[in-house]
Amino acid sequence: MPTISEKGRQMPASPIRKLVPYAEAAKKRGTHVIHLNIGQPDIKTPQVALDAVRNHTIEVLAYSMTEGSEIYRGKIADYYAKNDISVNASDIIVTTGGSEALAFVMGTIMDGDDEIIIPEPFYANYNGFATAAGVKVVPIVSSIDSNFALPPIAEFEQLIGPKTKAILICNPGNPTGYLYSKEEIQQLAKLVKKHNLFLIADEVYREFAYDGREHYSILQESGLENHAVMVDSVSKRYSMCGARIGCLVSRNKEVIQTALKFAQARLSPPTFAQIASEAALDTPKSYFEAVISEYVERRNILVSELQKIEGVKVAVPQGAFYCVAELPISNSDDFAQWLLEKFEMDGATVMVAPAAGFYASEGLGKNQIRIAYVLEQEELVKAVRILGAALKEYTN
Ligand SMILES: Cc1ncc(COP(=O)(O)O)c(C=O)c1O
Repeated sequence: MPTISEKGRQMPASPIRKLVPYAEAAKKRGTHVIHLNIGQPDIKTPQVALDAVRNHTIEVLAYSMTEGSEIYRGKIADYYAKNDISVNASDIIVTTGGSEALAFVMGTIMDGDDEIIIPEPFYANYNGFATAAGVKVVPIVSSIDSNFALPPIAEFEQLIGPKTKAILICNPGNPTGYLYSKEEIQQLAKLVKKHNLFLIADEVYREFAYDGREHYSILQESGLENHAVMVDSVSKRYSMCGARIGCLVSRNKEVIQTALKFAQARLSPPTFAQIASEAALDTPKSYFEAVISEYVERRNILVSELQKIEGVKVAVPQGAFYCVAELPISNSDDFAQWLLEKFEMDGATVMVAPAAGFYASEGLGKNQIRIAYVLEQEELVKAVRILGAALKEYTN
């Protein structure tokens, strides 16, 4: 039989999806599974976006421009201007989700064996994009005890070597919910300038900043023009995960011109989804106010309910809609599977994401889980009660 590639062998499977068969089996047994494991918001997509597609009279669903529709990119630049980020349409490439922007950026700036430093725990798919590009992820540990704040700059410096090309951050963080402060971004800015590295920021959760905190983008920092590459998406902002639209933004012309060649190879981003995404930019401010206050309430309930469980430590999220909790167990993969296979309370159980998959360092995160608070408050409370009861019954 012909053999598959070494890269294919190395490609990590999703740490969350491996539990799906157990969840399906539980559902078949009649158990109600509450999904705390996925980042699919239950919030309604803005009506303006849905209407734009519904009311469109396209007769030929043609390719769009490789870099995305001119009008749409102009409007994205206007949206950034409102967020104190000054970029032109020519600094933007529209992509098929933030995912494709991440793949493009890896291909654009890194060669095989180059290294990228990423604070962990991090969005698990970064491992997949790095593997596909043949790039080595060098993790730097951030701790639940400091709420997953930026690790000390001196620790980054120790990891920077001749193969280091970039530092990648997710702000606010999935899975941590941590929102980097302006000071932290400025420390990173100084570091990447000193060592001539790229600074990539995944800002797909930018809108979700809580408690009066303001998101500070790497593109707001002056002097980073040649270093900063930002990844963005409509998926979470407008609860439009299925649209598959994102973008890559950089003032570094060489980065954009090179990424455009990767974009040309896949021809264009989806046409209908750009129509929806362009219309979504007209979403009224009141939509976000309502969504953010809903997430804040969910976060508050989740954190206070988790804190009631003996032995549980929680990092309080300041943004996005995820939270990492440390549990009094030694193997969250086993615990998550046990929850689906062996446990139920009043006919229900919970599905959580074991956190080890969000770490690149072997052995870390084994007593942690990630919870996505994309459920209604009542369901969240029920889920945490189930978790508490399960922890009493579970033996490591
Ligand atoms: C941190 C982060 N970045 C990027 C993505 C990719 O999202 P999409 O491709 O839907 O834009 C996700 C999706 O969950 C994410 O959580």
